[in-house]
Amino acid sequence: MSSLPPATALRAPTILMFDSGLGGLSVFRELARARPDARFIYAADDAAFPYGALSEDALVARVMAVMDRLIARTAPDAVVVSCNTASTLVLPPLRARFAIPFVGTVPAIKPACESSLTREVSVLATPGTVRRDYTQKLIQDFAGDCHVTLVGSTRLAPLAEAAMRGEEVSNAEIAAEIAPAFVREGRSRTDTVVLACTHYPLLLDRLKQVAPWPVRWIDPAAAIARRLSSLVGPVAFASNPAPMRLFSTGRPLDAALVERIGGRRSRSGEILDMEASAPA
Ligand code: DGL
Repeated sequence: MSSLPPATALRAPTILMFDSGLGGLSVFRELARARPDARFIYAADDAAFPYGALSEDALVARVMAVMDRLIARTAPDAVVVSCNTASTLVLPPLRARFAIPFVGTVPAIKPACESSLTREVSVLATPGTVRRDYTQKLIQDFAGDCHVTLVGSTRLAPLAEAAMRGEEVSNAEIAAEIAPAFVREGRSRTDTVVLACTHYPLLLDRLKQVAPWPVRWIDPAAAIARRLSSLVGPVAFASNPAPMRLFSTGRPLDAALVERIGGRRSRSGEILDMEASAPA
């Protein structure tokens, strides 16, 4: 009779998470809960932040170059692109180049439109994400009779970075960025806002505080954690998970800050040298 291997025989997966900055940590919080066994690597391409301002060609070239170096250095079992601005564009070339699984983060338009009662849904994202064909396709395929308002904010991701670093960010600045997501159409008004940039859930308490009226905020992090977990197999036993390894392209990531947001011990930040030639 066949039997399952003992839990201790399972190998803990190595998972690389990637964003332009600290935003991917909003996804990491859920992944860390779902996979207490995993070795995590968190990489922020902060030298190119914000991704929302880059042209599509520049963004594809940049992400491929960063990923070449990161994958060669860390040999992950799977990669989570915890950035909507990148995922809505670069998943096909990444999957074509590397043989490991990539999990993306894309606007949660389907669940938002399934659950909206007023049929007024807004998508709060970067200017890059709202321009994408990918986002238009999600609306065509899943909005049904919902009216979807796309709001591309230039400032909300930088404000989230500043707030996470403990800098003063006023309620008025945040309120101005989210105001266009609150729409009244006749007797109906927005009841659901999709957080389609991973930086935004980091500001959720502030968003709720300044919102003109209460709405459902849709954060895809838990769904991404379930998807990743199903790809990398059953949880291996781990009573004391390895500290997370941190990479960035500009300034070293602050391990204490990452621990506070992400909830897992981290090593000191390492710099990923983008000037050095890419591995063959
Ligand atoms: N966190 C990224 C996202 O989910 C975007 C931030 C940026 O513009 O770099 O879209």
